[in-house]
Amino acid sequence: MNTKLEGKVALVSGSGRGIGREIALKLASEGARVVINDLDAEPAAQTVADIVAAGGTATACVGSVTDSKFADQFVATAVDTYKGLDIIVNNAGYTWDSVVQKMSDEQWEAMLAVHLTAPFRILRAASGFIRDASRQEAEAGQDVFRKVVNISSTSGVYGNAGQANYAAAKAGINGLTKAMAKEWGRYKVNVNSVAFGLIKTRLTEADADAGAKIDIAGQQIRVGVNPQILKNAEAMIPLGRGGTPQEAAGAVYMFCIPESNYVSGQVLVCGGGRP
Ligand SMILES: NC(=O)c1ccc[n+]([C@@H]2O[C@H](COP(=O)([O-])OP(=O)(O)OC[C@H]3O[C@@H](n4cnc5c(N)ncnc54)[C@H](O)[C@@H]3O)[C@@H](O)[C@H]2O)c1
Repeated sequence: MNTKLEGKVALVSGSGRGIGREIALKLASEGARVVINDLDAEPAAQTVADIVAAGGTATACVGSVTDSKFADQFVATAVDTYKGLDIIVNNAGYTWDSVVQKMSDEQWEAMLAVHLTAPFRILRAASGFIRDASRQEAEAGQDVFRKVVNISSTSGVYGNAGQANYAAAKAGINGLTKAMAKEWGRYKVNVNSVAFGLIKTRLTEADADAGAKIDIAGQQIRVGVNPQILKNAEAMIPLGRGGTPQEAAGAVYMFCIPESNYVSGQVLVCGGGRP
């Protein structure tokens, strides 16, 4: 067990699977106590069990980040269980693609809800604790930095056909990041985004042509990529392949450590060299 994040308390939404799970494992392996969230109880419990088995500390807060009561519960789980809150990673999400003429209002609203409104509510719910803690630390002469990492996408930075809803939400979170970096600088909170390119998870690995679907709160959502499109996309990545969830977690980790204390309001593209 390493100790770079010893004593820190982290919230990681959507950490039952994929990139979020790897972020949680990485933060815990560096000593952070982590609140695991997922829509689905079983994968959330698995992430907690894996962290504990590796000698770390974690607890679960199961539920949908889009539930209007969720943000307060998430923050309270950290503060009540571990008496602190130092790192917030807004990662939970999925894609629900269509060309614009086939996109329903529901599809549009769902992407804004999970990728933009939910992170906004979580940061708002954390604001009271962060303000009070930073004031007390300043009075005590302590130099404590906190970290917010919002998960964006290259779709939100450059756009992507078939993802008007997702691209708009992922661009929106970069605006939220920049505004919060300015608002919370006085509390010593670094707020940054990581915009992933192609990362190999169930959202991108599944064969869209084979009718791959994921269950989101009882609704079957079509995901995946056509295998030929996936191959072409990988050929355009300078590193020659999509990234692993572990590599994706590494980019988030860089924004959680003391070495990045003077970096805030930035959008880091983690895409294997593809702009
Ligand atoms: N995989 C990629 O290529 C890629 C690229 C760019 C951005 N991203 C972003 O990375 C993040 C993680 O995606 P992933 O690829 O690891 O997907 P994933 O499906 O492997 O994992 C996402 C997890 O989030 C959970 N989740 C979904 N909606 C939720 C909700 N409302 N409340 C709580 N949990 C919820 C899911 O149950 C799942 O366990 C997402 O924000 C996604 O948009 C992924």
